Amino acid sequence: MTIIDGKQLSITLKQHMKEDVLYYKRIYSRLPKLTVILVGDDAGSQSYVRGKEKASLEIGILNETIALPEIIEEETLLNLINKLNNDETVDGILVQLPLPEHIDKTRVLERIRFDKDVDGFHPVNVAALWQKKSCIVPCTPKGIITLLKSANIQIAGKNAVIMGRSEIVGLPTAKLLLDQDASVTIVHSKTENLKKITSQADILIVAIGRPRYVTGEFIKEGAVVIDVGVNRDPQTNKLCGDCDFESCVTKASYITKVPGGVGPMTICCLLQNTLEAYLNHMEEKYD
Ligand code: GUN
Repeated sequence: MTIIDGKQLSITLKQHMKEDVLYYKRIYSRLPKLTVILVGDDAGSQSYVRGKEKASLEIGILNETIALPEIIEEETLLNLINKLNNDETVDGILVQLPLPEHIDKTRVLERIRFDKDVDGFHPVNVAALWQKKSCIVPCTPKGIITLLKSANIQIAGKNAVIMGRSEIVGLPTAKLLLDQDASVTIVHSKTENLKKITSQADILIVAIGRPRYVTGEFIKEGAVVIDVGVNRDPQTNKLCGDCDFESCVTKASYITKVPGGVGPMTICCLLQNTLEAYLNHMEEKYD
């Protein structure tokens, strides 16, 4: 059994990106910049945003976090996005989710210029992904594929089962795995005979947001298990995944841990997307 170490892989990839940033700065005389908008004071979101800030600075990407109060009006937020859309020094704009109830998330995400949408949530990027055109790929799904490839796991021809159908993780991951020639099944909260399906998976991606829900019984002997969950264990209050690691590890051939698996890769792919957006902006400018 092998643990796929997302933390270590992200360190290696960030080191390469740091060198790339230095190189491009010499060519284009400006650093890439990511602007993150955080609305409200949710502790989880604050912690994610700090992680993004720290990782950006580590590799030389400029980072500005704009913290707004929970009661901000939608129109004010949209106007701020307009301003950032027109700011030539800003390459990536990320609005941390979830947003407060009174704000229309779709309207906000659609307002971000698609070439600055480093989350890959804008309809132009979503459509391009499903049409196999070049686009900004959502960070967590991109991180999952990078993890699988780093461990030389064969995807083509394999049964991949994705637990969870979210627009952020489940759906785009299904598309990326299909593009790698896996046979893909998505299961969710209404799926019947859940264990029967998951126990046929050669590759099991778990993104359901339920602490330690998936046990060894869900898993085929020798399967690859990728745990996307980020939860607090209700008993210990410690960070834990959607998989019960101790029981899953007895069945899996490859498995990721929480923390130290998918999480660092999500951040790493956000940096890659920001760098990609910056290069596109620079190439347009110098064309
Ligand atoms: N909240 C939880 N995951 C994400 C993500 O991938 N992007 C943004 N913007 N917010 C999130």
